[in-house]
Amino acid sequence: MSGIYLEPLSVSVETHLQGFHSMCSDPPSVKWLFIEPTSSLEESKAWMITRLPTPENPDIDKLAVMLPNHNSPNEPAKMIGLVGTNRYSPQGLETGYMLHSSYWGRGYGKEAFKEFLKWFWALETRKNIMVLVAKIAPENVASEKIVKGAGARKGEVIENSFILKKNEENGNKSTIGCWYIDRPEKVSEGSKIVRMRGGE
Ligand SMILES: CC(C)(COP(=O)(O)OP(=O)(O)OC[C@H]1O[C@@H](n2cnc3c(N)ncnc32)[C@H](O)[C@@H]1OP(=O)(O)O)[C@@H](O)C(=O)NCCC(=O)NCCS
Repeated sequence: MSGIYLEPLSVSVETHLQGFHSMCSDPPSVKWLFIEPTSSLEESKAWMITRLPTPENPDIDKLAVMLPNHNSPNEPAKMIGLVGTNRYSPQGLETGYMLHSSYWGRGYGKEAFKEFLKWFWALETRKNIMVLVAKIAPENVASEKIVKGAGARKGEVIENSFILKKNEENGNKSTIGCWYIDRPEKVSEGSKIVRMRGGE
């Protein structure tokens, strides 16, 4: 265990908004999403709202990846990434993850995705979901390693497709490999590192 924890992402939590903006305005962090980095907090906030459940896309779940400051335990934890489900697609309910590039290569991505899956499969409200699909540019080696580590099976490659809804607006198509993650036969009790905030 690395010390990270996961909690529901919310635009009204200041550390989440700051963390989301920090990631989305960081060019390396958004490279594989085929979008331009955001250039203001307002722009990041507007995009963040569309990535959370909306009336048009209500049945998704997004968790913030939080890193406590062990040197100053009184300081609030930092949001360094996010993980969750994105939207329904012809291939199934999409899943995805993202970390700020300053924190890459420390095992956080792998741990966050595995723990998200444990939590997700145990959700009473998502029992109807039998498979998730991760859509990954084939050059995105780190992301492929994350899904392989979570037991995903390789599916089809789709040419000229949109990885995110935002790409439908900016017109950036790419080649996408589909990786399927099946609901496990035996669902565990959930994740010990997911924390619900008060009232959730
Ligand atoms: C994909 C991403 C979340 C990985 O996060 P991370 O915390 O760096 O990943 P981890 O440290 O857990 O590493 C996972 C594996 O990838 C490897 N890896 C990490 N960075 C790598 C890189 N740049 N090139 C090749 N392999 C890399 C690690 O060695 C590890 O390999 P292992 O399974 O053999 O141990 C992060 O790179 C990211 O946010 N990328 C931008 C957003 C993105 O691409 N999201 C996915 C869209 S489909």
